This record gives sequence, structure tokens and C-alpha cells, in this order.
Amino acid sequence: MSDTTAPKLRSSAWFDNPANIDMTALYLERYLNFGLSLDELRSGRPIIGIAQSGSDLSPCNRHHLVLAERVREGVREMGGIVLEFPVHPIQETGKRPTAGLDRNLAYLGLVEVLYGYPLDAVVLTIGCDKTTPAMLMAAATVNIPAIALSVGPMLNGWHKGERTGSGTIVWKARQMLAAGEIDDAEFIRLVASSAPSTGYCNTMGTATTMNSLAEALGMSLPGSAAIPAPYRDRQEVAYHTGRRIVEMVNEDLKPSDILTREAFHNAIRVNSAIGGSTNAPIHLCAIARHIGVDLPITDWQEQGLDVPLLVNLQPAGEYLGEDYYRAGGVPAVVNQLMGQGLIHEGAMTVNGKTMGDNCRGVAIEDEKVIRPFDQPLKEAAGFVVLSGNLFDSAVMKTSVISPEFRERYLSKPGDLDAFEGPVVVFDGPEDYHHRIDDPATGITAETLLIMRGAGPVGYPGAAEVVNMRPPAHLIMDGVHALPCIGDGRQSGTSGSPSILNASPEAAAGGTLALLRTGDRVRIDLKTGSADVLLSDAEIADRRAALAAEGGFKYPASQTPWQEIQRATVGQLGTGAILEGAEAYQRIAQT
Ligand code: FES
Ligand code: MG
Repeated sequence: MSDTTAPKLRSSAWFDNPANIDMTALYLERYLNFGLSLDELRSGRPIIGIAQSGSDLSPCNRHHLVLAERVREGVREMGGIVLEFPVHPIQETGKRPTAGLDRNLAYLGLVEVLYGYPLDAVVLTIGCDKTTPAMLMAAATVNIPAIALSVGPMLNGWHKGERTGSGTIVWKARQMLAAGEIDDAEFIRLVASSAPSTGYCNTMGTATTMNSLAEALGMSLPGSAAIPAPYRDRQEVAYHTGRRIVEMVNEDLKPSDILTREAFHNAIRVNSAIGGSTNAPIHLCAIARHIGVDLPITDWQEQGLDVPLLVNLQPAGEYLGEDYYRAGGVPAVVNQLMGQGLIHEGAMTVNGKTMGDNCRGVAIEDEKVIRPFDQPLKEAAGFVVLSGNLFDSAVMKTSVISPEFRERYLSKPGDLDAFEGPVVVFDGPEDYHHRIDDPATGITAETLLIMRGAGPVGYPGAAEVVNMRPPAHLIMDGVHALPCIGDGRQSGTSGSPSILNASPEAAAGGTLALLRTGDRVRIDLKTGSADVLLSDAEIADRRAALAAEGGFKYPASQTPWQEIQRATVGQLGTGAILEGAEAYQRIAQT
């Protein structure tokens, strides 16, 4: 029987419900069959779920299978009982057509598990790109006590004495292959050198970004995000995470106590300082909507644009995950921002202390890797949020704009912040791959490349294809990047200066559907406008003509889930969540 001084546990509705002894008996009998005892299940001990995202199909998160043992030891020591269960696997680089399709599916599955089973709290085993938002979104919807445990990045990759970053080296290697500097075998060896151990991408891609932001939101233990997967400290923090989640049940510390508007604004600022991925606005918006916090896309520019880039990680900088941890990780970054009043210090975190108390005074251990606030790598390194007659919203990551690009597009006298050019339009990634190197495509150094049909509806889940390399002949002439605009996403590990996440997408009625190769587009970063230079009458005529043809064409769904998601998903600018799901909030309390 429950200890009457402890708070009533959610799991007691299953395992200790005198009003329904019949169902209690049925619930209990099967959880006993692998060796748990009646005493354990009925003594008022919290039941802690471990939402296990690691598997052979998810190599980035696979180390969680090992870490879960240490989580269990921590939970046990504090008197809890662990029930570990699988989460729908999502491997960023292994899933066809795109892992983006699976974030909302993993979310849905986890919501059902957390709601429908006798769980008092959950440890979220985060890591590879989409696994982190999927699990935080589910914890937000259900709102039982939840703590995120990062699996940690891989060790640094090396090739011929240079750091090779996962996901980033492939962009360089592709250019080297296109320019004939390396052959196929060397291409594969070079790319593989970037993945020397268990863990997620060691660059500042979407994984390092989202794990850092989980900590900046207050959802994982301070200092834990950056610990490389194979380090002993990673095992230790797994143990402390297990201990802490039991205390969180006793304190009734829930996601809604942590995921406040202030916490999201902290995360946006940290994202600028770390040079985080352009997938972050999508995922943070999704988490915010599921917890019921207002986080419009314009907050990214208002809160984050002026924050400088402090973390010197590839692709914007030089270093990798081990260096980030050694230099102090998220707390050292937060402390720099706190010194400027850029952090809401009172934001609560999973350890029961505030962000300010956790990070105050945490020193930078290596200023080459994490710069002091007054010696940044780049000023104003956040995202510019654009809108115009091309779309309602899109984002541009300014921290990856190369000196070459700046020189060619942004330094023209009298026109410092705007550029304009004729477009070449691609309908989806296959079209791009077929035609990019074909001289008949007509791409010049003045061209703006357009990728459409790559949004959540057009290419289910939204493909990471907006960042397009120039044709081989231009690369050989020294043009390494052209401006790209599209309704898809961009890999966090690529360094191209793209305008992406354009919403609404072509397949949902966006103006991108009406563009023709040769149209001129003008981008003004100062006013935040993105327009095709066509009259309103011309745009209206084209829109009517497209409607008469039956609308923008995109490939048929290949699986039932693609069809279901297409029917219910929103646009990237508002998190690309399943729109009907937002109505279900804090459902553990309903
Ligand atoms: Fe999984 Fe990069 S592919 S983290
Ligand atoms: Mg990615």
C-alpha cells in the first residue's frame, strides 16, 4: 500500500486502485511475469519509463542501450522502478525518403505510450536530429515529469592531421570529387573518417544543436549536452539523470514548469551563440506549440539575430564535439550570455535550480573553441526572418555566409544588404540532381537557385535539399556557393547561405509554385524582404493558370503514413506539427 505521506502517483491508478480491484489485478499480473514483485509495484515507488531510442537501426543513439543500465542504477538507488520501452527509430541519414517524415510519427507513438501506460515520469534518450524534438514534443503534450539524457557526440574525426566533421566533410568532399581532386574510393574514405565512434554528429549540426538547446531549455542536467558519447562522464551523467528523475516525481516538477516562453527565448539566444541549425526554429516552435507557449517565427530575429557567434565548431568554424565539451559546453556559453543580460536567469531547470544558478560563473576553458562575448567569431549571428511576395516566412542563417559570398553579394557599394538575380528553378531533389551539371540548365555566377516541392507536403517530411552546390564548371572557376531559396529544409551540417523553410511551400499554395526560370528575385536582408520582381497581375494570372491545371504537382505517397501526415501537417514556419494534435495539451492532468 502507498505511503500516505508521498504524493499520489499516477501509476497507482493501474497498480493500486481499491475502487477497481478487478482491473488492478489484471494490470499487475502481467507486469509480474518477468520478475517484478507485488511489493515493488504496490509500495508507492514511482514507475520511471526509459523511452529508448537506441537500436541497431539508429546508430547515432545506439549507445543509449548501454547508458540505460546506468540510468536504471540511479533510479533504483532512489527507490524507483524502471520500465524501459522502445521509441520508433529515427536515423537522420538512413531513412527514406527523409527522417523528417518520422518526427511526428515518433511523437504520436510516444504520446500514446506515455499516456496509456502506468508511468509516473520518463527519461527521454535524445540524440540524432529528430529524436530530440520528437521526444520533447511528446513530453510537452503529456506533461508528466521528464528529463532528457543526451547520448553525446562522437569523438572527433581526423584525416591526414585535420579534423573531419560528420555531415560537414561530405560537402567539401563532394566539391573535391566534382573538381576531380579525389576518386570515388577516397571520397568514401574521407567521409567515413568523420565517424570514429558511437554517438551523434560531432559538428554543430542539428543533433548538437538540439541537444544543446534541450539543455538551454532546462530539460537536461547542466553541463550534460556536450559530453562525448564514449567518455566516462557520459555514463556518470546517465546515473545522475536516473537519480534525478525520481526526485522530480516527488517534487512534481513537470515540463510545463520548465518550458516557458522565457526558456524558449534563452534557447533562441543560445542557438545564435552556438551557430545552431536552421532546423531549430522548426523544432522549438513544435515543442512550444505542444506545451502551449506562443513562439512566432519572428521571435528568432527579434531575440536571436543580434547575438554573436561564440562557439567555433564546424560548419561555421573549425572545431568538433570533444573540443566543445573540453571548452565548457552549454554552461560556459550561457554564462557569457548572462554577463550581457541575455539570459532569463530565473528559468527553472530539471535539477530544481534556475538556469542562472546552474551556469553563473562557469568559465570558458579554451577560448579558441568558445570565445568570450567581446571577442566573437561573428557579430549578429542569428537568423534573419524573411517575408514578401514569395512566401510568408523563411529563415537565413547568417553565420555561415562565407567571405567569398559576402564579397560577391553583400559588399556592392551602395547596396550592402541586398542582392538580386535571375532564378533557375528545380522541382524537387531528383530534378536538381539530374540537371545541376547540365550546361543547358544555364546556371551562371549570377543565378539564384530555387528548390521547390521539398516542403512537408510536397516531399513528405520536408527534405534537407535547399542547400545546393553550384555546377562543377562554376566550382572549377572558383564559385563555391550560389544563393539558394527553397521550401525544404537544410542540413545543419552544411555551410551554404540558403534561404529555407519557406512557408507556405509550393505544394500548399505558395508563390514558389509560380516561379519560372529566368524570373528575377530580390532579397533585402536589411528590410527582411524576399520578392519575385513580377507585377501582382502577373502573379494572379499565373496562379489562376496553375489552378486550372490542377495545382502544383508532387509525387504520390509511398506509404500510408506519408498520406496521413500530408493530410494533417502544417508548414515549417509554424513547426510542421500535426495540426490537430495541438488541441491535446497536458493530457496526463486531464
Ligand atoms: Fe544522426 Fe547526424 S546523422 S546525428
Ligand atoms: Mg539533418
